[in-house]
Amino acid sequence: MDFPERFSNLPAYAFPRLRALLDVHEPGGEVVHMTIGEPKHAFPAWVTDVIARNAAGFNSYPANDGTPDLLGAIADWVQLRFNASVDPATQVMALNGTREGLYNAAMALCPEQKNGQTPIVLSPNPFYQVYMVAAISVAAEPVFVSATAASGFLPDYASLPPETLNRVTIAYICSPSNPQGAVATRAYWQELIALAEQYDFRIFADECYSEIYRNDAPVGALQVAQEMGADPERVVIFHSLSKRSNLPGLRSGFVAGGPDSIARMRQLRAYSGAPLPGPLQAAAAQVWADEAHVDENRALYRAKYALADEIFSGVQGYLPPEAGFFLWLPVDDGEQAALKLWTQTGARVLPGAYLAQGEPGDNPGNHYIRAAMVAPITELERGLITLRNCLYT
Ligand SMILES: Cc1ncc(COP(=O)(O)O)c(C=O)c1O
Repeated sequence: MDFPERFSNLPAYAFPRLRALLDVHEPGGEVVHMTIGEPKHAFPAWVTDVIARNAAGFNSYPANDGTPDLLGAIADWVQLRFNASVDPATQVMALNGTREGLYNAAMALCPEQKNGQTPIVLSPNPFYQVYMVAAISVAAEPVFVSATAASGFLPDYASLPPETLNRVTIAYICSPSNPQGAVATRAYWQELIALAEQYDFRIFADECYSEIYRNDAPVGALQVAQEMGADPERVVIFHSLSKRSNLPGLRSGFVAGGPDSIARMRQLRAYSGAPLPGPLQAAAAQVWADEAHVDENRALYRAKYALADEIFSGVQGYLPPEAGFFLWLPVDDGEQAALKLWTQTGARVLPGAYLAQGEPGDNPGNHYIRAAMVAPITELERGLITLRNCLYT
């Protein structure tokens, strides 16, 4: 059976592509996994107790948009972390992980037309892959804007021509960015928000790496929008417990933004949403309210940044990540480098081109590999040393 026409050009997802590239070969040594951004540090031990205490909730359908407890904990966290105020009753919705929210927000908020034309959804390039499929699903035209060394590894949306900007309905932006670990400054957000006000589009700010950083806590999009007195509907933020609290399997995230945006998302969710089970919502509420484990987690990543800086010191083009847990490492050819690493050493990384769009010769990920620093530090150290020795000596 054929895929619907709109998905006919959808490339295979990055990980099946990687398996097809590598798994036809034997690993050249003990396997070190650095491909998937799946946190491996421990989550707080008390999480399982909270789930067990609330287990009776598995007997009921869960609150679709989030329990008052969870929404309140999230609003408190947004206030504490970003000094931004959101009304838990109208401006926050719980998500079953951020990914579905990034997808469903486009369903709820992308109009069929903009100024009488097909809408455009902007995405950084490289990018988290759901942005593209969301744009295609709402029959918008995805436009990929390179986020390379020349643009500080964030997209320069202001450089697009007015005919393009006039059609934009949504601009996805990821800060701290996956894969490069770049952080949008207050000035970057101010410029982007001003552009969105000028051309009347929404910013979908994917901030799910915001709690994993080296020095200063990244500034948030909603925070800057409120400082500027921007239209409250202008910015929609997405956050997650997956990275902050090492709970990717809990599937807890949230979206926050203007009351109209959230009302539309809630309405759609009433029909088609897959809410987080009640006992997991109870656990998530407590996890958002606790910062001690987040500090501990950050300390573990800081040790990993220091390790990477030491191992890659002197490597030309090495980009010390400001935040997040990926290394975006320059190589001649990402696919060849990943294959060489696998077959000669057993270290497994992702070719950068699999995370980006573009013609074979013109893909901003071509000359990079992405390595996730999620493994326990001794295993990571072995992997990074192997990588350096194989590719940079
Ligand atoms: C940039 C980015 N956004 C969103 C997500 C999704 O996170 P969640 O686990 O909350 O669905 C990820 C996970 O890898 C990510 O890297």
